[in-house]
Amino acid sequence: MTDSMNRAPVGIIGGTGLTSLSNLQITGEASVTTPWGPPSDRLVKGSLGDQPVVFLARHGNPHRIPPHEVNYRANIQALRDAGVHTIVGVNAVGGIHPEMGPARIVIPDQLIDYTWGRASTFFEGDLAHTTHIDFTWPYDGDARQQLLHAARAAGVPVSDFGVYGATQGPRLETAAEIRRMERDGCDLVGMTGMPEACLAAELGIRYVCLGLVVNWAAGKSDHIITMAEIEQAIDQGMTGVKRILGESVSS
Ligand code: HPA
Repeated sequence: MTDSMNRAPVGIIGGTGLTSLSNLQITGEASVTTPWGPPSDRLVKGSLGDQPVVFLARHGNPHRIPPHEVNYRANIQALRDAGVHTIVGVNAVGGIHPEMGPARIVIPDQLIDYTWGRASTFFEGDLAHTTHIDFTWPYDGDARQQLLHAARAAGVPVSDFGVYGATQGPRLETAAEIRRMERDGCDLVGMTGMPEACLAAELGIRYVCLGLVVNWAAGKSDHIITMAEIEQAIDQGMTGVKRILGESVSS
């Protein structure tokens, strides 16, 4: 066996605009299930360069599961069962910070959770004791540095800070909601960052977010948000995301 085959795979959860990875050398696919139900799609196993990878399309492929109906527990558990210790969550987001306009790539360092009613813990039911994980730093520091290094190596400009505000969706926000989020300190807004990040933390998995800004958040431009604008930013920005992933985060 080669060295790379002995390495733990990195999990990549692809979001809107990333239902498959064209630069992934695919070695197999697995339809799996978990005690929490099946994940959003089959796990696609392969490698990016010499890094083993397990890819999962968060919304299914084709894209059909809305953010509030994703079975986040099943997705994280399935990746854990596949031997993953590090997850890169790729998220389409709206930009609030002036630096974070459409097609910008952001590696946030903090988050605020505005979601509600989602199954957001593995620790429930008939438990022997309660568990409160530390979540001071929701994104793994080393994994963030590796992604930043990968971005530099790929020559893709990124913002190396940002507070991700996770909203419930599926509707987009009002301008007043975005103004409130900005006062709270949010730089980005997205619908899928939570509970993905805390579930990974509960299982001791290193988690990092690779955000692609696909629109100015509500009220941050002089027009309403259209799907055409979002698709254009995805077309423009996803190549950079794939180049960063191609430089690979190691497990
Ligand atoms: N708000 C919430 N989620 C998003 C947005 C947004 O503006 N853009 C992409 N995902």
